[in-house]
Amino acid sequence: MKILVIGSGGREHALVWKIAQSKKVKKIYCAPGNAGIAESAECVPLKADDILGLLDFAKKEEIDLTVVGPEVSLVAGIVDDFEKEGLKIFGPSREAAQLEASKMFAKLMMKKCGVPTADFVVCRSVHEVLSATKKFGLPVVLKADGLAAGKGVVICQTSGEVEETADRMLIEKVFGPAGHTVVVEECLEGEEASLLALTNGDEAVLLASSQDHKRVFDKDLGANTGGMGAYSPAPVVTEEILKFVMDKVILPIIKGLKKEGTPYRGILYAGIMITKSGPKVLEFNVRFGDPETQAVLVRLESDLVEALLWTLGKEKAPTLKWDSRPSVCVVVASGGYPGSYRKGKVIQGLDKAAKIKDAVVFHAGTKKSGEKALEYLTDGGRVLGVTALGENLKKAIDTAYKTVKTIKFDEMHFRCDIGWRALKN
Ligand code: AMP
Ligand code: GLY
Repeated sequence: MKILVIGSGGREHALVWKIAQSKKVKKIYCAPGNAGIAESAECVPLKADDILGLLDFAKKEEIDLTVVGPEVSLVAGIVDDFEKEGLKIFGPSREAAQLEASKMFAKLMMKKCGVPTADFVVCRSVHEVLSATKKFGLPVVLKADGLAAGKGVVICQTSGEVEETADRMLIEKVFGPAGHTVVVEECLEGEEASLLALTNGDEAVLLASSQDHKRVFDKDLGANTGGMGAYSPAPVVTEEILKFVMDKVILPIIKGLKKEGTPYRGILYAGIMITKSGPKVLEFNVRFGDPETQAVLVRLESDLVEALLWTLGKEKAPTLKWDSRPSVCVVVASGGYPGSYRKGKVIQGLDKAAKIKDAVVFHAGTKKSGEKALEYLTDGGRVLGVTALGENLKKAIDTAYKTVKTIKFDEMHFRCDIGWRALKN
C-alpha cells in the first residue's frame, strides 16, 4: 500500500514510524513532515490545510490510505472531500469533527447522550457569563466555543478574572468567531487521563491509556502547552474506569452521532477527569493526541495500518496487542515555548541518542540545514519527543532522561518530572 500521512509534528512522526512497520506498506508520504519523518517517508511540501493540493496529490500518486494527524484538516472537511473522490481516508467527517471544533456542540451532544461531563451553560454575553458564574461558584471554567490553538480554556479563580476573560472573548473578540459563544462550566477536581478509541461508527476499540503534562514547567506550573510529556499506561485508569469510559462515554457518543446522521469514524480522544464521583469528560478531540501518541504507539504490537483500515469498514473490532512495559515521552522544546521562541538552533547528539536501547526520538519541529543537509535545526516550539520503554515506569523514565541528556541545542527546555504522578501512584 501507499500511505499518505498529513501533519508535521511528533504525533505524525510516531504514526509514520509505526506505519512503516506494517507489512502492508510499500511507500509512505508525509505532508509536510519534518526532518525526522524524512528518514522513513517522502516529505511533500503541502500544508495540512491545503485540502485541494492534498487531494490532487493523493489522486496523482494513487494513495491507498490517507491518515490525518491534525484537526485543522478534519475540520476543513478533508475526509468528505477525499471520500467524494473515492479515496480511502482515516478520520471523521467535517460535521463529526465538530466534536472538537465546537465546545458547545460537544457539550450538547454529551447532554443528549447522557455522557458524564461538567455542568455547563452556553453564554453569548458577558452578563450571561456572570450569572452562570453565580450558579457554579468560583473557580469556574470559561471556554471559547471554537478552535483557539489551545488557548481557549481559562480556569478563573476570581470574579475579576471571569469578567476580564469574558470581555476578552465576547467583546474584544481575541479569538475571532471562535469566541462568539462561551461555554461556562463548573470546575472539576481530580486526576486527568487521555483515553483514545478507534471506531468504525458502530463499534470501538480502546487504545492503551495515557496521561499528558500540559503545563510548561515542573510541578505543573506555568502556562498551558500542547503537552510537555506523556506516559502510558496511566495507572489511575483502572479496568473499571476503562469499562466505564467505553460504556458510558465512547459508545453513547458514537451511537448518538450515528442517530443524528453524522456517523463518527476514526479516532475519538476523550480527555477525562477522574473525580470523586466518577470519570467525567473534559473535552473530545477528533484526532490522535500529541504527545500521547508517541507514548502509546511505542507500546502497540499489532499492525497499526490494519487497525486504521478497520475503522473504514464493517468488520468486527480487532483486538489490539500491547507491550506490557510502560512508556514515557519527554518533550524537548525551544526556550520560550509556548510563548515566542527562536528557531534555527543546531541540534547535537541525535546520533548518540539513536544508539540507546529501548528509546526512540520522535521529531516535532525540526528541519535539515544547508545544501548538504547535514545538520538538524530546531524549527518549532516542541522540537523532539524523546520516548522510552522500560520494565517499569521508573526504568522508562530513566532511559528517556538518559537519552535527553545526549541531546543539546541552545535554549533547550524540557520538564524534569514527566511521570511523577504515576510514580506517586
Ligand atoms: P479542554 O480543551 O476542554 O480539554 O481544556 C483544556 C484543559 O483545561 C483540560 O485538560 C483541563 O486541564 C482543564 N479543564 C477543562 N475543563 C475543565 C473543568 N470543567 N474543570 C477543571 N479543569 C478543566
Ligand atoms: N496532548 C493534548 C492534545 O493532543 O490535545
